[in-house]
This record gives sequence, structure tokens and C-alpha cells, in this order.
Amino acid sequence: MSHDGALALLFPFLRAQSAPALWVLDEHGGGPGMPSPNRAVTVLSNRIDVTEEMQAAGWVVQFSDFDFAPWPAGSLDAIFFRVAKEKPVVHHVINAAAERLAPGGRLLLSGGKQQGIKTYARHAAERLGGALDFRKMGNEYLAVIRCGDQRGAALDERDYATLRPVISDGALSYLSKPGLYGWDKVDAGSALLVAHLPECAPQQVLDLGCGYGYLSVQAWHRLQPPRIVATDNNAAALLACRANFAAQGIVGEVIGADCGAGVDGLFDLVLCNPPFHQGFGVERDLTERFVASARRHTSAQGQALFVSNAFLPLEQVARRHYAQVTTLANDGRFRVTQMLP
Ligand SMILES: C[S@@+](CC[C@H](N)C(=O)[O-])C[C@H]1O[C@@H](n2cnc3c(N)ncnc32)[C@H](O)[C@@H]1O
Repeated sequence: MSHDGALALLFPFLRAQSAPALWVLDEHGGGPGMPSPNRAVTVLSNRIDVTEEMQAAGWVVQFSDFDFAPWPAGSLDAIFFRVAKEKPVVHHVINAAAERLAPGGRLLLSGGKQQGIKTYARHAAERLGGALDFRKMGNEYLAVIRCGDQRGAALDERDYATLRPVISDGALSYLSKPGLYGWDKVDAGSALLVAHLPECAPQQVLDLGCGYGYLSVQAWHRLQPPRIVATDNNAAALLACRANFAAQGIVGEVIGADCGAGVDGLFDLVLCNPPFHQGFGVERDLTERFVASARRHTSAQGQALFVSNAFLPLEQVARRHYAQVTTLANDGRFRVTQMLP
């Protein structure tokens, strides 16, 4: 992980902050060059890996699906946020800022031009009822909004905190919510992977980067494994996957971990639709990390099944870790790859 220019715009303000403040940090956080801890600032992160890294560096960190409940209304002097990829997340943070900031408190937003920063800044100023100071700094933008006396109408955050039965796939339906990858649809690549699930009866199945649990739920109903483990680094994904396991009577484990790092044991079948974006950027290193983790978790007689965008060099990476690598399907957009130790 490495921080981006927009995130770095916040660093001088984070260093200078002396009254109670919150730094809302998603997948853009972590990596080299992060500022030293500031005791006045608590980090609120929805990613396990970012949480662990910031804690190790000495920051006070709360891990949750951006749940602001621990901070009473009007209790914060500042909130820092590099805008996220999804609009409901950004609106959720701006709405929370309108409630949690003290009179005269500041919301600092940063982001790129193509990332909606101008519109977010304008809407945030209306919501906080305050003055907007908008600056271009290099290629990125910084918006400082100071709370006024009157708050404006809440921004549409798509009922951020609520799980809902938003996806249905034949006989099965799935609970999901904003804040996790492709939250309101079945991923076309994952559907292709499911069409190529093996006929075998695995004893253990691992779903690496489970999201709301689509691959796990499908594998459970089709293969009935005695042990199923789903893992993700995103708090929203963990909430949704746990809820889907409970709703469907699936006896499985849902574990928060960075690339499956906290998952014990070996698995006959490892399923994965690996991410290749981190925030607004493309992160090729993630493919390597997911394949390496899958290998560590594959039993001697087991296999891993990955689906990836066809343009990714997944098979090249897979050959560095597995003895036998076979393409099971390639529809031009997605490729399903089987890997045997
Ligand atoms: C392409 S989505 C696939 C989601 C789900 N398996 C599906 O098929 O719908 C990739 C998932 O990997 C998760 N992820 C990203 N980085 C991760 C990391 N470092 N450790 C664990 N999971 C991660 C994301 O949160 C996301 O849920």
C-alpha cells in the first residue's frame, strides 16, 4: 500500500491538530510516508490492514464500518477525510460531520478533480451550513468547511448502515449494503467462477476476499462442505457476510483479515475473485498477495479457483506459486483459473 497525493494534503493539518479530531481512513491509508501519531486525533478505519498498520505505528484506531456512534453530537473539533470511491460512503461521512462537529469545527476533504471533490465540497458546505475554502494544490484539491449555525438537509447516503435483501440470484437472496465492493449486484466474474465449481465434495472451503459472501453461499449450497471460512479486510463486507451466513443457516466462520493472514488451517478448495483496485488506483501487487495466500491455504490434494479480469496476468503469477495452472473459462472479460499445488 502507498498513500496518494490527495491523502497527503491532509498530513500538515493532521500534524497541527491539537483539539479532539477524527481521521476517517479507508483503503487509501497505510504505506510509507504516513504521518507520526497525534494523540488528539483518533483514526476511524473500515479496513483491517490499515487499522493494524496504524495501530502498530502508535495511532489510536477504531475499526468499524464507519460507525460514528462513539462520538457524541458536537464533540469533535475536526474531521479529516480523503474522499472514497463510493458516493454513499462520502455522503455518510459528511452527514456524520454535520452531527459530530462542534460549532465552528472543520471538515477537511481532499480528492482529485475526477473524483467528485468539487461537488462533494459544495454539498458539504450546504450540509454543514458553513463557509467553504477550496484550494487546488498540485493536481489535487483540498476543501476546508467550517460549521455554521444552521445545518442543511442530509445528503443521500442510501441508508448507509442498513443491510437489506438487495440481490437475488435464482432461489437465493443476499443481504448487502453500501460500503462494500459491488454491493447491489452479483459480480459477473464471480458468477462465471460459480459455473465452474468442481463436482468434488471438499472438506474445507476458503473464500478469500468474500465481500457479502456470494461465493461462500453458492459453494455451501452446491458442495455442502463441513467447514467453510470466509474472510475479508472490509468491515462492511464482514457485517454483510455474517448476516448472510446467519440468514441462510450456514455454519461457517467469517474472519476479518488482510489477505487471509489470520486464517488457520488448510483447505481443499480456495475460492477468490481478487481485488485489483485500491481506492482510485490499480494495485497489481494485490494479485500476487492473494495468490500467495491461496497457496499457503491450499491442501496437498486441494485446488484454488480464481476469477479475474481477462487482462490481468493472473496465470503468470499463479505459476510462481502452483505446479499446475489451467484456464477453465475465458469469456473475453473474465478468466477462471484452476491452480493445483
Ligand atoms: C472483487 S471483490 C469480490 C467479492 C466477493 N468475493 C464476490 O465475489 O462478490 C474483492 C474483495 O476483496 C476484498 N479485499 C480487498 N483487499 C483485501 C485485503 N487486503 N484482504 C482481504 N480482502 C480484501 C474487498 O473488500 C472485496 O470484498
